[in-house]
Amino acid sequence: MFKPSGLNEKEEKIMNGRPKIFLTRELPPECMDRLSESSDLTYNREDRCLTKAEIIAGVRDAEGLICLLTDTIDDEILQAGSKLRVVANFAVGFNNIDVAAASSRKLPVTNTPGVLTDSTADMAWALLMDAARRVAEGDRLVRTRKWAGWGPLQLLGSDITGATLGILGMGRIGQAMAKRARGFEMRVCYWNRTRLSLKDETRLGLEYCSKESLLEQSDFVSVHVALNDATHHFIGESELARMKSTAILINTARGPVVDEKALCEALQHQRIAGAGLDVYEQEPILVEELYDLPNAVLAPHLGSATIGTRTKMGMMAVENCLVAWRGQRPPNLVNEDIYE
Ligand code: DGY
Repeated sequence: MFKPSGLNEKEEKIMNGRPKIFLTRELPPECMDRLSESSDLTYNREDRCLTKAEIIAGVRDAEGLICLLTDTIDDEILQAGSKLRVVANFAVGFNNIDVAAASSRKLPVTNTPGVLTDSTADMAWALLMDAARRVAEGDRLVRTRKWAGWGPLQLLGSDITGATLGILGMGRIGQAMAKRARGFEMRVCYWNRTRLSLKDETRLGLEYCSKESLLEQSDFVSVHVALNDATHHFIGESELARMKSTAILINTARGPVVDEKALCEALQHQRIAGAGLDVYEQEPILVEELYDLPNAVLAPHLGSATIGTRTKMGMMAVENCLVAWRGQRPPNLVNEDIYE
């Protein structure tokens, strides 16, 4: 038995006990091993999202909840989970959780920042390159056996090298996106709620500009803002109207940051040249027209989907959960206000 010093009886019991954890979907093997050795684990063994009623049933007895971005954790669920000591999200974004409701119960909410930065930036680049060079369109042409051979005007795309990349949101992922642009000798302009220091702008080779001017100048616009009330439909009809007719929009952030209907209209009427999307407003359902638009590259929310990244995210979520359960401040707390 672990014998910590300076703890009272109740704290000691907690340190030596096993938390009752409810996990809404299976995580990579290393994370499952860690969970089974350190907790009394109940988890969803089916490869599907749980319904709200199933989550409610699962949290009734739980002391820790590990959930996913596909689980909406609202006040009713938190109410049902009256024994919960922590809600640990397996994602950097936490717009799926009613954080205010958790804070009002002094319940810590955690996320998984940092570990998915590179894989998400890589994915944004994969979409950018695919949309620019029409790889998915070409793949469809070949697979449907409609390719009649090389042609000088066939599937002409856009140059990436030397083009202007506009990055909206210059947090960790925005910065990783910018670093990769150096290899393509791109001009990179950015907009962020808070401007970076001159030192960081110089280090990353960035030009700061207004959102409007970024949209007007960029050949590629990549969105990296968090979803909140201020960024819902951050790119809508008027923003799309400012973009060049040759420009390509990339979204690996959250679906509702872009007005999907307005984007469909812009793509249908070639008001912009293309889009590379990893996220959607009502996942997994897309605005109907989007499915058939050849100038949209559509990925099924794969930003963090590498074995290494998902394992790191899982290990981080488990650690957050165990630390908070012991009554300590978890490393990736999002609602600091619970300690005020
Ligand atoms: C996140 O962590 O927010 C990502 O969208 C997961 O892929």
